[in-house]
Amino acid sequence: MPFVSDDLYNEICMANDIVDYASSFLSLKKSGRSYMACCPFHNEKTPSFHIDRDKQLFHCFGCGASGNFVQLVMRLESLDYRDAIRLLAERANITIPESGIRQSSELSKKKDEIYEMNRIAARYFYDCLMKQGVGDKARAYFAGRKLSRETIIKFGLGYAPDEFDALVRYLTEKGYKSEDMVEAGLAIKTKNGKFMDKFRDRVMFPIINVRGKVIGFGGRIMAEKTTPDGRKLAKYLNTAETIVFDKGSNLFALNLAKSSNAPDLILCEGYMDVISVHQAGIKNCVATLGTAITDMQAKLMLRYGREILICYDMDEAGTKAALRAIDIIAAAGGKSRIIRISGAKDPDEYIRKYGVSGFKKAIEKALPSTEFRLSLVKGKYNIADTDGKIRFVEEAAEILAGLDDPVEVEAYIKRTSADTGISAQSIFGKYTEIRNSARRRAPVRTKEDFKKREINLINREKPPEKRVTSAVLEAEKRLFSIIARSRRLCIKAFEIISPDDFSNDTYKLLAKRIKEYADSGKNIDESLILNEFSGDAAAENMAAAVFFNTEEYSDDTKTLYDLIYTIKNNKLKARMNAASELKEISEIMKEQEKLEQDRKQWGKGSQA
Ligand code: CTP
Ligand code: MN
Repeated sequence: MPFVSDDLYNEICMANDIVDYASSFLSLKKSGRSYMACCPFHNEKTPSFHIDRDKQLFHCFGCGASGNFVQLVMRLESLDYRDAIRLLAERANITIPESGIRQSSELSKKKDEIYEMNRIAARYFYDCLMKQGVGDKARAYFAGRKLSRETIIKFGLGYAPDEFDALVRYLTEKGYKSEDMVEAGLAIKTKNGKFMDKFRDRVMFPIINVRGKVIGFGGRIMAEKTTPDGRKLAKYLNTAETIVFDKGSNLFALNLAKSSNAPDLILCEGYMDVISVHQAGIKNCVATLGTAITDMQAKLMLRYGREILICYDMDEAGTKAALRAIDIIAAAGGKSRIIRISGAKDPDEYIRKYGVSGFKKAIEKALPSTEFRLSLVKGKYNIADTDGKIRFVEEAAEILAGLDDPVEVEAYIKRTSADTGISAQSIFGKYTEIRNSARRRAPVRTKEDFKKREINLINREKPPEKRVTSAVLEAEKRLFSIIARSRRLCIKAFEIISPDDFSNDTYKLLAKRIKEYADSGKNIDESLILNEFSGDAAAENMAAAVFFNTEEYSDDTKTLYDLIYTIKNNKLKARMNAASELKEISEIMKEQEKLEQDRKQWGKGSQA
């Protein structure tokens, strides 16, 4: 599975340093041996996200997110394992030699294959667009939308021909299997077993990640069309989720926007909007992928932009979506402004109507999100009459109660007072009342909730006799924290328990590796061990959490044996509870007896 040799991996991690890397987007505070910040993976106000500089690991005691340096990069930058390593290598000016590359995992091979297939497909769509005859209609469409040839090339736009399986045949010629095309989201298997192009007769927008890989496509119809059975075709068709395409954690054109020098990032709703804005020479513009903005996307954007300038349609749906985006960006710890494009339905139309200069003016006049929200509320009421004034002030106070910055609160209270003639003191009173009321308190996720979820995850799809109780899981965690720290106790433990005795695959593999380190006499390299879990976030979290166990650790054999007994005993109990046949029951009873006998002998042998 490793993509680079262990030595090179360590060299790359050391040259970067996890704390240094993380501090470029988290405000880290040193606390004892670790560094702490508010967790980038869940919303919180008090920091429970820890970084251990010595081990180069991270762990959130709130949501359980955990892993090594590369896994942190993977999650923060939405990259796969190899690309995360490449990014770190580039960051430290280290070149990855061809010879340093070892056999990659099945999963990353599969991903690479899909990236490559997508790249070939994008190239094919582009060629179809440019081809005389085939692409005439599509070129005329883009011309009608005022896209220059340069823009088409920059975005790699294309055309999927109006045929049943043009791309499938093309990719087959290149040696690809139809099943793999389906997995890449490029083909569909029909009821009678034929493979058909997913995108037919559509102009194509490739979606490219920050590393320049084509991860999926959006395809737009050029004219309204109905299917033979009378349904209207959707305007856009997007690649469904695949192993390389996650709509919630990528953004359209971020590959281009990330290298613009502008301090902020503009967020539009549509692909066409982004393309128009870029064509106007404004390069810091991205869009979501046909879905509402997610927490991950907000965090991703905030890494590249100081503030997010939301530029959505001005209709009711667009306004609603903008309000949602404001909240999500705020929850991700960022600030947003709203670009208002009055007089046009979307940014694309706005630029065509008012030109680049008009759009630049709109950007300059972007409203801070609070002001935007207040203006919407103000628009709802007639503040010339007393009732309207009161209702407006109430809703305004509600908005202000959600803010964290006291200076901002004061400024808007003054403004609202000036607007309505109601004293700042009364408005402040209203604000405090709302702020103190219990209903504003959001439910907090507790450690207990987290443990419950962890257990459910482990027990999913397990037969009753294999299900794990929280007692066992806790015992296993404590056992890990002992064997990971003491080579002597580790060797003792594995004299009486085997890695396969652990309750789940993650722990089994982890135990196996820790045992290997102990047997070889080398010091444990946590970070290297964790690499084996890369790509499966749940496994990464569980495995890395083991190295962050803060429980008081007693360095004695009695604790060790008690824990092992708990694990073994609970395992037998679970089997007993599920057993129905007499033969099985008597067998388990025998094993229980043997365990009790063995327990008395533990530590009494040569190793004591
Ligand atoms: N979208 C989608 N499926 C649809 C309609 C829209 O996935 N049936 C997504 C697309 O990502 C689209 C975005 O929502 O880019 C915004 O929709 P819209 O404003 O209608 O599209 P535009 O990109 O502005 O396209 P156009 O101007 O060509 O209508
Ligand atoms: Mn549009």
